[in-house]
Amino acid sequence: MNDNLHQLRCFGCGARISGSEAQPDFRCAQCGDLFEVDYPGWSQRQSHDRPNPGALKWLWRERRCSSEALDHSGVWRFRELLPILDNFGNAVTLREGNTPLYSLPRAAKALGIDQLFAKHQGMNPTGSFKDTGMTAALSVAKERGFEWVACASTGNTSAAMAAYAARAGLRSLVLIPEGKIAWGKLSQAMDYGAVTCQLKTDFDGCLRLLTQIVREAPICLLNSVNPYRLEGQKTPAFEIAEAFDWTVPDHLIVPGGNLGNSSALGKGFRELRELGLVARMPRISVIQAEGANPLVRSFAANHGASMEPMEAHTRATAIRIGNPASWRKAARVVQDTGGWCLDVSEAEIAIAKAELGTEGLGCEPASAVTLAGLKKLRAQGHVATGETVVLVLTGHTLKDADYTIDFHRGTLLRDEEAAGFEPQIDRLRRNAITVEATPAAVLAAVKGSAG
Ligand code: F0G
Repeated sequence: MNDNLHQLRCFGCGARISGSEAQPDFRCAQCGDLFEVDYPGWSQRQSHDRPNPGALKWLWRERRCSSEALDHSGVWRFRELLPILDNFGNAVTLREGNTPLYSLPRAAKALGIDQLFAKHQGMNPTGSFKDTGMTAALSVAKERGFEWVACASTGNTSAAMAAYAARAGLRSLVLIPEGKIAWGKLSQAMDYGAVTCQLKTDFDGCLRLLTQIVREAPICLLNSVNPYRLEGQKTPAFEIAEAFDWTVPDHLIVPGGNLGNSSALGKGFRELRELGLVARMPRISVIQAEGANPLVRSFAANHGASMEPMEAHTRATAIRIGNPASWRKAARVVQDTGGWCLDVSEAEIAIAKAELGTEGLGCEPASAVTLAGLKKLRAQGHVATGETVVLVLTGHTLKDADYTIDFHRGTLLRDEEAAGFEPQIDRLRRNAITVEATPAAVLAAVKGSAG
């Protein structure tokens, strides 16, 4: 079976190459920009490679009841829109995707919005959205005969890569910034057998170093510069459209770090529109942390025409990135969809995360920037009452339990960071209390918390 129908197209100069011609760092040999996976058959209306929208919608739904392992994956269920393998039998899957879309009635009410949802990508096998990208890119690496895969990471990519590599019987190498990632993520890479190197540099330094390493050794680079990662990460767009019965929400809000995810979701919705599966695209807005906001600065300076790297700082360590590789692609998505790019403070992130908690939804701090960003967008008049908004929650709350505990103990934020937010923080904090082991003492604690 030869299911492979793709080419790689340079995002900068438009040069086209076959997948096997890609350089180890996945940069264009002509202009140095990144590639996007392209399916030439789709642009010809008469082509037999062009998928039929009605048949696809039916097929994808049917697969949810199938007994085939590949159909249980929320990525490969949509395989007609990611024909990147010579043989789909080579797919390495852990049943990723098919994540829940939760309504957020309390936040919607507080914000005066009719319809607010959270697409929880933290409910993937390793606890983050990276699994959807990893099943795609690692399957390609395996099919091309690599024995080693590698990534630089703020934690989640490494956890996902190590798991999928272990599943496929490949070896994995992880480069992480020393002391700057959450323990939950580090523990995963160790458990899945990765060679884990903690480097005295930041994420951007790790990625730079890895780019040099893959030029010297036969190791497949699995950061989101690898365009196959984005093919997997575009599939939540299909799930969201399907959940809304092939209409799309008005507005999608995504955290921004290395900016692969916003690029991928934009590509997913764009392809749905080009193939006639949906009529329009949602606005896509990207939210960064104030201390790690190179794309926000780029939009403020020249509406995303150029970007200055910066030294990044935020407790939302997943998005502590100052030189995002996919910034050009993400800027295009924001521009093309009429979205916004803005940043939120450390206190705003912590409060938004705790507010999501009050709806029974845990997430990583990096994911909570979406709700914090929505509040700002609403306050600035960019989101109308009647709009349907979807927040993309990218990581599971247990990835970074220290952050949550520090918030509730009151040790997370410095006084100057919390200034002006004290009433909201006090209302949300629920520190554990030590009480006598008697019914009376416990009931007194219950009574004391009732106010
Ligand atoms: N949210 C979480 C939980 C993440 O782990 C990341 C990125 C992002 C948001 C940002 O997504 O980079 O596609 O813009 N984490 C990467 C990692 C960098 O190494 O795990 P992005």
